[in-house]
Amino acid sequence: ADPDPLQDFCVADLNATVSLNGFPCKPASEVTADDFFFDGLSKEGNTDNPFGFGVTQGNVLTFPGLNTLGLSMNRVDLARGGINAPHSHPRATESIVVIKGKVLVGFVSTSSVYYYKVLTVGQMFVVPRGLVHFQYNVGHGKATLITAFNSQLPGAVVVSRTLFASNPPLPVEILTKAFQVDASVINSIKSKFA
Ligand code: GLV
Ligand code: MN
Repeated sequence: ADPDPLQDFCVADLNATVSLNGFPCKPASEVTADDFFFDGLSKEGNTDNPFGFGVTQGNVLTFPGLNTLGLSMNRVDLARGGINAPHSHPRATESIVVIKGKVLVGFVSTSSVYYYKVLTVGQMFVVPRGLVHFQYNVGHGKATLITAFNSQLPGAVVVSRTLFASNPPLPVEILTKAFQVDASVINSIKSKFA
């Protein structure tokens, strides 16, 4: 979904003071093979949290060599029973490959149809751009997935965090009216994200 590059590469200078759609390039004379290399996905993410979820992002911010190249990858680790909570990527379609374990993956279309599949090692699923999706470890041990995006910086809108943990918070009456529940229910959910 990103625009086409205008040169072979443009390794991001993340410290540049100019702000534009992407990042300026570090001088080509300073570019080495290391700029096209990223070791981050080799390590298991920390899943010691209430979701049993760890994500390691290989996007332009962690891997500046991706700048202008239109793609990125994450590693998602799930503890037994762990979940990557419902979220969407405003700038990318996502493909998912399971490399360990057994994972329920699903998304919901704009017509509110829920599409899902249980994947085992080597199997792939695709989540169309912008649609809300999740992954849930339904196997007996840990699970690991690699996700790939057609954007250097797909962005992630985590539904729960967006609605219940924004800064500043959304007015409670927006949420009581949206979900047709009492404020106590909203405040209970909010307290989990404090
Ligand atoms: C998984 O859904 C991811 O966004 O990496
Ligand atoms: Mn995703």
